Amino acid sequence: MTHDTTALNRKRHRFDGVAEVWLFGYGSLIWKADFPFIERRPARLRGWSRRFWQGSHDHRGTPDAPGRVLTLAREPGATCFGIAYLVTPAVFDALDHREKNGYLRHLETLEFDDGRCVDGLVYIADEHNAAWLGPAPDAAIAGQIAAAHGPSGANRDYVLHLADALRAHGAEDAHVFAIECELRRIVA
Ligand code: BEZ
Repeated sequence: MTHDTTALNRKRHRFDGVAEVWLFGYGSLIWKADFPFIERRPARLRGWSRRFWQGSHDHRGTPDAPGRVLTLAREPGATCFGIAYLVTPAVFDALDHREKNGYLRHLETLEFDDGRCVDGLVYIADEHNAAWLGPAPDAAIAGQIAAAHGPSGANRDYVLHLADALRAHGAEDAHVFAIECELRRIVA
């Protein structure tokens, strides 16, 4: 199931005359950046929470057995830890293609550890995209993830790498750690 958002994203933000843009990573971008960047630093996004609510038919699953990957859900009072990358606009060409299965770029305020705030782009998939799976009990989410594999690898590795990376940064995330716990129980 696809819902190619590449063209939509290209129309959402134009980069005419812009040399550098902040990009906020809250998923695999926390531990893996396969693009050039000028600078990277820990950052926080207020009012959003990480959730394994987006289907992955093209990276961590298949059309017949979709995996579950992260998106962000609005949650007043919540804070989402991530890594901000300062990149050139050209980086978005590759990312728009990679994240074409339902993600749209949003312009949000990012907060650094020193209190400085900047505008940055973040990819978010909402309930209106065709690959959306939505909430489910933790055990069901973990069961689906345990069974899913795709061109980018096992869905379980996506979760386990993320949980390890969050711990390495001293970041709390009850949803991610609950799914990790269920997953470790299933795969043990
Ligand atoms: C990330 O932060 O790794 C990410 C999540 C969803 C879409 C694009 C990037």
